[in-house]
Amino acid sequence: MDNHVLDVIQNVEDLPTLPAVAIEVIGLSRSSDVSIKAVSECIYKDPPLATKVLKMANSSFYRRGSGEVDTLHRAILLMGLNEIINITTSVSVLSVLPPQGSTGESIRDTFWNHCIATALIARYVDKKLGMRSMGREFVGGLLHDIGKIILDEYFHDEFMEAHAFSIDVDCPMYEAEMEVLGTTHMEVGSFLAQKWNLPGYITDITLHHHHPDQAQYKDINSLVCISDLLAKAKEFSCGGDRMSFVLSDQSAWHIMKQMGHPVHLLDLERMTFEIENIGEEVSEYISTISEPAGQEMAHD
Ligand SMILES: [Fe+2]
Ligand SMILES: [Fe+2]
Repeated sequence: MDNHVLDVIQNVEDLPTLPAVAIEVIGLSRSSDVSIKAVSECIYKDPPLATKVLKMANSSFYRRGSGEVDTLHRAILLMGLNEIINITTSVSVLSVLPPQGSTGESIRDTFWNHCIATALIARYVDKKLGMRSMGREFVGGLLHDIGKIILDEYFHDEFMEAHAFSIDVDCPMYEAEMEVLGTTHMEVGSFLAQKWNLPGYITDITLHHHHPDQAQYKDINSLVCISDLLAKAKEFSCGGDRMSFVLSDQSAWHIMKQMGHPVHLLDLERMTFEIENIGEEVSEYISTISEPAGQEMAHD
């Protein structure tokens, strides 16, 4: 990575960092014999984070069955360790890079609208195809474009110039970024994901979501790639890229087909109809994750 923009970003002293507990929880997720107790105790070390994770676990986006889950231990039993770790990662990233940007001109709100739409659509496609990505599709969708936030934050004028260029020339945003900034949101995003020590599949998604054929985790990258296109088709675009597409022209579609996923179920017209209310879901997700966590909950 030999580029002035990347050089600057790699040396920014105030680059956002994840809460220490989130880093620890993500680290625990790498261990093969991690226990429910270890994860719940770790999250409880950061009470506001614990309260927020429980709140999200009880929201309509994640809730399983009826009745409120009032402890992390029970939430993990009900939803599984992976889902709680996914929620912790999502809540933590949104807390350090909130939808309200530091300047009035920030793209933060449209950015998160796009990413949350992609995450919700990824979950819908995952279910439709029976891919069982275990919530990874949601976190992957949520974080795939994270490099755009960093480019906007530290190179706002150039990023806006790239945005205008992508519209003028009608090219993908990453090509416009390369033209104006000499790097892409994928390179910047994968740098951030590595710096935050996020799981390997997330780093892979930040780097390869536009070219899943080059990815290590091809299936989930293809899933996020298609969900990203669908989000844009539903007018959830961020930083250029408002392009129409044919599903069977996408390498992601072919990869999924080769991997044996029932891509014949991916009918663009039907799916666009089925995700008609995605806008309301996106707003609800943002307000749920943004509002104060409220009272502290029980600790088991
Ligand atoms: Fe992207
Ligand atoms: Fe995207």
